[in-house]
Amino acid sequence: MNPNKALWEKGDFTRIAECMRQSGEELVAGLGIAKGLKVLDLGCGDGTTAIPEARLGADVLGVDIASNLVAAGNKRARELGLANVKFQEGDASNLHELPDAAFDLVVSIFGAMFAPKPFDVAKEMVRVTRPGGRIVMGNWIPNDPTLVAQILKISSAYSPPPPEGFISPVTWGIEDNVVARFGEAGVPKEKVSFQRDTYIFNFPGPPSGLLAAFKTYYGPTMNAFEAAERGGRGGELLKELDALFNSQNRSSSADVTSIPATFLRVTVNR
Ligand SMILES: C[S@@+](CC[C@H](N)C(=O)[O-])C[C@H]1O[C@@H](n2cnc3c(N)ncnc32)[C@H](O)[C@@H]1O
Repeated sequence: MNPNKALWEKGDFTRIAECMRQSGEELVAGLGIAKGLKVLDLGCGDGTTAIPEARLGADVLGVDIASNLVAAGNKRARELGLANVKFQEGDASNLHELPDAAFDLVVSIFGAMFAPKPFDVAKEMVRVTRPGGRIVMGNWIPNDPTLVAQILKISSAYSPPPPEGFISPVTWGIEDNVVARFGEAGVPKEKVSFQRDTYIFNFPGPPSGLLAAFKTYYGPTMNAFEAAERGGRGGELLKELDALFNSQNRSSSADVTSIPATFLRVTVNR
């Protein structure tokens, strides 16, 4: 089994995605989507951005490596009566099933960054975008002090070393890497621009409840707890993450969680 696919099918990312809907909608509202625009949402999960894109009238294809998330996306689309969005399985490192220049806009928010072979991912995103089209990525930033970068950093300290040749997903949060990857795909540096942006994690319970959701449903955190528990350090990891979630909470009520997280927004003009 492909370990990248296994990681994301392990838990149930829909339970985390529920906390990210508001920021997903706000991000999509700023993308200039008009009726009929052909959009590929890559690493789409259950459609946090794909569904709002479809609501704005775009023809959306959501592609994700995890079959459970593809099914969850199609279920949401059906329940919402949206006929202009379809979710299907695929790997951002190799989109062989998609033709060249098929999309006006390729969106990948914390999605393609998790695929292995980042140079192949950039090549594939560029290939399926029509000349004159756009690619928009959201990528977590290594060593950033906010929530997700810290979860990934703390988790990696409790996990076994990655296999040789593994390239960390958060390397997509470093501008020089992004320029080099799209450069190899034929996009000059001047066509790649960067912005710091924020996603807010909203949870209708205390920070410890949001942490419990990550521990139970978020593949990378589940793996970190399994590894920590094998080494007798599960309690230590829980304590470290609990301190992180509580210190990052910006809600004025102790029973509600609202945590902002910074990411690198990348725009490529094809
Ligand atoms: C953090 S989630 C983000 C999902 C969604 N974009 C959102 O904003 O809710 C990462 C997603 O990337 C998907 N993913 C990971 N590796 C992938 C790959 N190689 N190809 C396509 N999707 C991938 C996962 O299955 C998961 O749905």
